[in-house]
Parts: sequence; C-alpha cells; structure tokens
Amino acid sequence: MIVVIDGPAGSGKSSTARAVAANLQIQFLDSGALYRVATLLYIDAQQEFTTFFDKLKESEISFYFKNEKFHAFLDGQEVSDEIRSMKVSQHVSEVASNPKVRAYVNDLMREVVKHDAYIADGRDLGTAVFPDADLKFFMVADLETRARRRFKEEKDKGSNVTLEEVKQNIAQRDQTDANRSSDPLRKADDAIEVDTSEMSFDDQVAFISKKVEELI
Ligand code: C5P
Repeated sequence: MIVVIDGPAGSGKSSTARAVAANLQIQFLDSGALYRVATLLYIDAQQEFTTFFDKLKESEISFYFKNEKFHAFLDGQEVSDEIRSMKVSQHVSEVASNPKVRAYVNDLMREVVKHDAYIADGRDLGTAVFPDADLKFFMVADLETRARRRFKEEKDKGSNVTLEEVKQNIAQRDQTDANRSSDPLRKADDAIEVDTSEMSFDDQVAFISKKVEELI
C-alpha cells in the first residue's frame, strides 16, 4: 500500500504523515529529506553539478523510520539534523529541479515501497512518482500560516533565523518547485485537497488516518 501527501513547504505534510504512520503502524517516507541529503553533496561539491554528480554516484543515501522519526544517512552517517539547516533549505529546490537527481531519488523510493505499507510526503508523488497510489492527498495552507509553523520549528531548534527569512525561503521554494519543467509541484486530479490553514494538527491526523484506515 502506498499513500501519498503532496503540497507546498510548511503545509503540514511531513508531520501529519509521520503521525499517521505511527498511529497505524505503517512506514513513513520523507521524500524531501532525500533531496536534502543530496543537497549536502551539492554544497560539498561547491555547487558545481559535474562534481556533485560524481559524488552522488559514489555515495549511498539510506534511511529508516523509527520511533516517529525519519532518519537519513549519507554513507552510513546520520545527517537527519544537518539536512534541516537554512543552507540546505536555500539550495534544495535548485538541486531538486535537476531531472537526473529526481530520477535518482525516485528509484530509491520506488524500490523501498515494494517491501512494506507506506505513507510518503513530497511534491510530485501523486503525479509523477506513484501515479497509481492507493490514496492521494494534497495539503495546502496560506503562506503566513506555513511560515509561522516553520519559524516555530526553527525557534524550537534554537535557530536565530527570522520569520521574514523563513517566509522568503518558503515562497522562493514554492516558486521554484511549482515552475520547474521536471515534475513540478501540482495537485493530482484524483488527490483529496486538505486546507490546513484553520485546522488543528490533531484534526489533520484524524482526517487522514480515517481515510487510510478504510484501506487497510
Ligand atoms: O519537504 P521538504 O520541504 O523538506 O522538501 C525540500 C525540497 O525538496 C522542496 O522544496 C522541493 O524542492 C524538493 N522536493 C521535491 N520533490 C519531492 C519532495 C521534495 O522536489 N517529492
């Protein structure tokens, strides 16, 4: 079984999918985290695509979901916290716009979902990666709400980033993600739209859990 949640940055996809997975004891796959791990290599390659692709070929990206947390690894080393840095957030959409990077990440995801029941979140899962997903959601929320959520997460981590910086980063990523030629952010025709601007987190989780439970 594969259930997907797509939508723009900060709409609540990841946290909701993670909670649903924990509730229903299924696996969670955070596709954005995989693009973020690739972005570490891009930064390491001084943002030069040829060197970056050489590094990507030689590296191993791995991950697992445990105790309600998605753990990501680069060459066996955990990078789950590092991939959330503002520096990675600033470059990730540029990296994710590249079709070769998308093919690489898509292969990783398609392979892993063969082996278990999954709920995954991303931008193009319902349209491009898993067009035949068992259930598709598209989560949206207004920019102000999304920026405030991400800002709170940053503050909780002790970051000194400002609300304005977070908002600009989200707006910029939305723009790049929705306008790239390779599998842009787009609602699948058969996806259920969930606007979380006025919804509590618990309500989001309950709504999606109920729909997924009907499948199990
Ligand atoms: O989900 P998150 O905000 O961590 O994703 C980081 C970035 O990865 C997005 O802004 C987008 O550029 C890219 N992404 C993507 N396709 C996906 C998931 C994420 O292009 N399926």
